[in-house]
Amino acid sequence: MEGERLQKALARAGYGSRRACEQLISERRVTIDGRVAELGNRVDVATSIICVDGALASTTQHTVYFLLNKPDGVVTTASDPQGRTTVLDIVESPVRIFPVGRLDMSTEGLLVLTNDGRLAHLLTHPSSHVAKEYLVRVEGDPSPSAIRRLRDGVELDDGFTSPAQVSRVSEGLLRIVIHEGRNRQVRRMCAAVGHEVTRLVRTRIGPLHDATLAPGAYRQLSIAEVRRLLEAVGLTDEMASTMPA
Ligand code: URA
Repeated sequence: MEGERLQKALARAGYGSRRACEQLISERRVTIDGRVAELGNRVDVATSIICVDGALASTTQHTVYFLLNKPDGVVTTASDPQGRTTVLDIVESPVRIFPVGRLDMSTEGLLVLTNDGRLAHLLTHPSSHVAKEYLVRVEGDPSPSAIRRLRDGVELDDGFTSPAQVSRVSEGLLRIVIHEGRNRQVRRMCAAVGHEVTRLVRTRIGPLHDATLAPGAYRQLSIAEVRRLLEAVGLTDEMASTMPA
């Protein structure tokens, strides 16, 4: 059995003794990831969304947020059975963290790593419309009509893409801002209008950007950046009570 007992995590978050927390669970007042919890449930406080009476419980004591400029050739998964370098091999953290969302192995650019499961959940949820901006090097030079199609939405095998902001920076170089996060979305969008992607770099995630961060470099987010990011996913009120001004 993996994880921590739910009543222990709740007691640490200030909901009373473990016995009192067992009582809350028996009264069906606690949910884990939207499902009513049962006595005996275990949780990973880094990734589970735990609510008591519908309000988020702050079960993670110490949240950390890193911004990595992921280099080409590094995988985003937490561990790789093929032994390739992962983003977690690069970012040294005092606590266990995980990447928020996924960049393809050959995609470069900004990636957030954290132990804040709520942020990760909200940022990657399909209903999240946080902007992600990419610099996209493609084969050939997209025509105005190809760019218009990318803007309006193109049909992929999992449906039409939502409207995107697309501009031509120079010959064969596009700047694309999308508000969805489907698998290999930018590559598939460009391929759908006849232009294979040869290089893809994420340059912005919502309010986060940093042109000075070299490939392979990382840093912790400032408190102001965390605030702006939480605000972008609608978690500000909570934040105000848990972080210094
Ligand atoms: N779109 C892609 O095609 N790949 C990524 O890694 C990110 C967005």
